[in-house]
Amino acid sequence: MRYLVTGGAGFIGSNFIRFLFKKYGDDASVVNLDKLTYAGIRENLAEYEGKKNYRFVHGDIAKPEDVAEAYKGVDGSGVDVVVNFAAESHVDRSIDDAAEFVETDVRGVLVLLEHARRAKLSLRRFVQISTDEVYGSIEDGSFTETDPLQPRNPYSASKAGGDRMAYAYAQTYGMPVIVTRASNNFGPYQYPEKLIPLFVTNALDDQSLPLYGDGKNIRDWLFVDDHCAAIDFLIEHGTNSEVYNIGGGNERENREITHKILELLNKPASLIKQVGDRQGHDRRYSLDTRKLEAAGFKCDTNFDAALEKTVQWYIDHEPWWRAIKERSAEYRAFYEKQYANR
Ligand code: NAD
Ligand code: TYD
Repeated sequence: MRYLVTGGAGFIGSNFIRFLFKKYGDDASVVNLDKLTYAGIRENLAEYEGKKNYRFVHGDIAKPEDVAEAYKGVDGSGVDVVVNFAAESHVDRSIDDAAEFVETDVRGVLVLLEHARRAKLSLRRFVQISTDEVYGSIEDGSFTETDPLQPRNPYSASKAGGDRMAYAYAQTYGMPVIVTRASNNFGPYQYPEKLIPLFVTNALDDQSLPLYGDGKNIRDWLFVDDHCAAIDFLIEHGTNSEVYNIGGGNERENREITHKILELLNKPASLIKQVGDRQGHDRRYSLDTRKLEAAGFKCDTNFDAALEKTVQWYIDHEPWWRAIKERSAEYRAFYEKQYANR
């Protein structure tokens, strides 16, 4: 199968490309189209550079010429499957400045779809990677795929735009679109601005862990390998025009995750620093995953074991995260501004 993966230099995209090569070997060819924003790290996939079935295209999903180049595939013969991970992905950044979120998470999706339509490509699948955050927050129960979308921050509103644009291309032009809405991912190669990698790397440095509000917000945690396997399953067995929730079934309060991380690292609870709350902070995300299970896929990774494995990965890959934290003036500037406002 010939894949076009966008955002493959980021967290989930790089795990997905590695998953494909591990599972399919030379039967898979992958073009990785990535803009290399602050979150894109080309070296995440250094092991595949130079291989005949992998091609990195440095470009923007919102630029038609970059998209046209990537759709050529690794050898000019085209692609069968598109998996669109490329996005601005951090809620706090979207609260600070939403413009790039609309550009990539909405308009970028349009440009990717529109190229396939105008060029009359016969794709097998176009997978739009959406998020559980498009539903908004839920106090009790879980969201099903037919529940209304009520995004509550600029990130989730932009993702909802891309999600519905992909759906519209399925309905209007008959494009073979599947939309997936996954819960909070964790695992290796996650940029240390998100809860788990930020807290692990701060704790390793004996720096404080800024827990927002009362720490009782709930997220459903999905190990990235389960997410990759679910996407692969849906490319094979999903139904076009359908939306699928992908949840880990591991709902935890942030304060519980925080204490677990400290325990695993043998660090004191005094590192926790309760800070002001995120504006418009969604209280709880929860997905009903019966549709995916009925199709034949169930996420089965044990949460505690996966968290331990993830923490160990950060211990073992200190140069990876330290380079990010040290080289990026932009990264430091964002956090200084962020906490100054709390
Ligand atoms: P990430 O921020 O780690 O990676 C995003 C990647 O996209 C980076 O490599 C970046 O360089 C690239 N990118 C950004 N703008 C681009 C553009 N205009 N053109 C090309 N490349 C661009 O994000 P992630 O956590 O790996 O998330 C991947 C996808 O999964 C996103 O669509 C996100 O909304 C979705 N998602 C993430 C989670 C999660 O918990 N991380 C959960 C559900 C859904
Ligand atoms: P995050 O990893 O940013 O993912 P999302 O906002 O997309 O769910 O945050 C996960 C939860 O952790 C969320 O409730 C906000 C909280 N959080 C903190 O308490 N402190 C932090 O420094 C960060 C980054 C997040």
